[in-house]
Amino acid sequence: MPTVIMNGVAMEAKLGERLIDAARRNGAHVGFVCNGAGICQTCQCQVLSGAEHLSPVNAFEEAWLPASRLHEGHRLACETTFREAGTIEIRTKAEDLRRQVIAVIKPPADSNPVAQLGPLVQYIARMVTDEVAHFPMNAVQAFQHVNPRDLTWPLRDLSRYVTDVSRVVTTILGGATSSPTHASAPQVIKIEAPEKTTPPSKTRG
Ligand code: FES
Repeated sequence: MPTVIMNGVAMEAKLGERLIDAARRNGAHVGFVCNGAGICQTCQCQVLSGAEHLSPVNAFEEAWLPASRLHEGHRLACETTFREAGTIEIRTKAEDLRRQVIAVIKPPADSNPVAQLGPLVQYIARMVTDEVAHFPMNAVQAFQHVNPRDLTWPLRDLSRYVTDVSRVVTTILGGATSSPTHASAPQVIKIEAPEKTTPPSKTRG
């Protein structure tokens, strides 16, 4: 049976939908500051397995993600769709960062906050490096890629946005985001047939 596991938690997805939409609907800890418009980069995630079941990397992702990141399976969740059933395991950048911060605040028994601070600083430094490495061409590409209508989402989509943010907060506070080791024992998973939806308002590269 097809399986999608995000941050160690099994969840439903639909063929043809974007990864970001499945994550939001299921309250996964993923960033979506720009509401999926393609300009914030907070939806970045890493595909740990099952990449072949997702849409191929597009030109927009190539503009924003360094080759090393792409090689490691990093994707933008708002640019990636489920193209076929299969087992897909994903970890989000938002959750990675949360775990790094928690490790500093509450280090493992055999460590201490100072020892944990180094990896966190390295993690953030690499994030920043990624963002500036292709600047300004990535920003130029983003402006070409983004449909101005997508930027009006606070007027059109605010209710859904608030609802989805509250889902993520509930997930984090409730500890529903489990460790990767839980991924080997997924809960009930279902990938449904695609729904008839309104075509996206922008053309993806
Ligand atoms: S949600 Fe902003 S770039 Fe994907």
